[in-house]
Order: sequence, then structure tokens, then C-alpha cells
Amino acid sequence: MAKPLVAIVMGSASDWEIMQQTAHALQEFGVEFDARVISAHRSPDLLFEYIKEMSEKGVQCFIAGAGGAAHLAGVIAGKTILPVLGVPIPSKYLKGMDSLLSIVQMPKGIPVATFAIGEAGAANAGLFAVAMLATNDKVLAQKLTHYRKKQADQIAATTLPAL
Ligand code: RP5
Repeated sequence: MAKPLVAIVMGSASDWEIMQQTAHALQEFGVEFDARVISAHRSPDLLFEYIKEMSEKGVQCFIAGAGGAAHLAGVIAGKTILPVLGVPIPSKYLKGMDSLLSIVQMPKGIPVATFAIGEAGAANAGLFAVAMLATNDKVLAQKLTHYRKKQADQIAATTLPAL
């Protein structure tokens, strides 16, 4: 594998259905990433090892998806000064409101950039990582500008059916 620039972590394999949107967004821009299932509460030692390993490999940020009492992103943020992006995974009973509040309500001092619940948040976290990387990469910046223009063109070309 080429050198990953982004590390995607999720608390359970069941999160992959949502978190693959992050992977797709990065793939679309040719950004190398590593994706792993590691739980902050089920496998905390492995999580700390992974944060160290990925930091040494030179990743520029972590994207963490978790559901329920979703402390994964916050724990990662506590172990690295790299930016941490959090994606709230929809949960069975509280529909991801628990995940959202767990991730967004970080106490002052250790920030986590929090995205929308579900697919949109997962995709946007990937796009946000691309935007961060693009500040130091002209080719990536051009690709992102082109991606945005395509969306604007689609909107401009949209017509409504006649009544
Ligand atoms: C969290 O618990 C995971 O991030 C997942 O969203 C949720 C449920 O996990 P499973 O019971 O599906 O493994 O740790």
C-alpha cells in the first residue's frame, strides 16, 4: 500500500456501511488511506498502537466513525495533535442522536470536528480531509475546484417538470 494520508477508524464492522462513503470520497480524489475496525472500549490498547503507527506513517488526520456512546473520536483526539474528524453513526434506538451528542460535545481543550449523522457526514468528512490536504497540494486543490464546479453546473442545469 502507498503511504496513507488519512486513517479511517470505526468502532465496529457494522459501521462500514456508512463509513465506506468516507472511503469513496477519498478514493474519488486519489487520496491514499488506511481503514480499520478498532473500538475505543473493546480494544483500547490496539487503538493506541494504531494511532502511534499511523502517526509515524505520516497520516495527516484521523476520521473516526462510531455509534451509541461514541467516544472513539474523542479518545483518538486525546492521543494525537493531528486533526480528528468524527462521524456519528446512526444507532438503533436513538437514531444517531446519541452518537452525534457524544462526538460533538467534547469538553474544551481537545477538539473533534463533528459531521452530520450517517452517509452525508461520512462523505463530507472525506471531502473535508481532501480540502485540508488541498491547502498544500495544488493538484488536489484543482480537483476539488472541479468537483465543486460540477455540482454547481448540475444545479444550474436542473429544470423542473412542467405543471
Ligand atoms: C459502537 O457500537 C460502534 O461504533 C457501532 O456503531 C455500535 C454498535 O456496534 P456493534 O454492536 O454493531 O458491533 O462501538
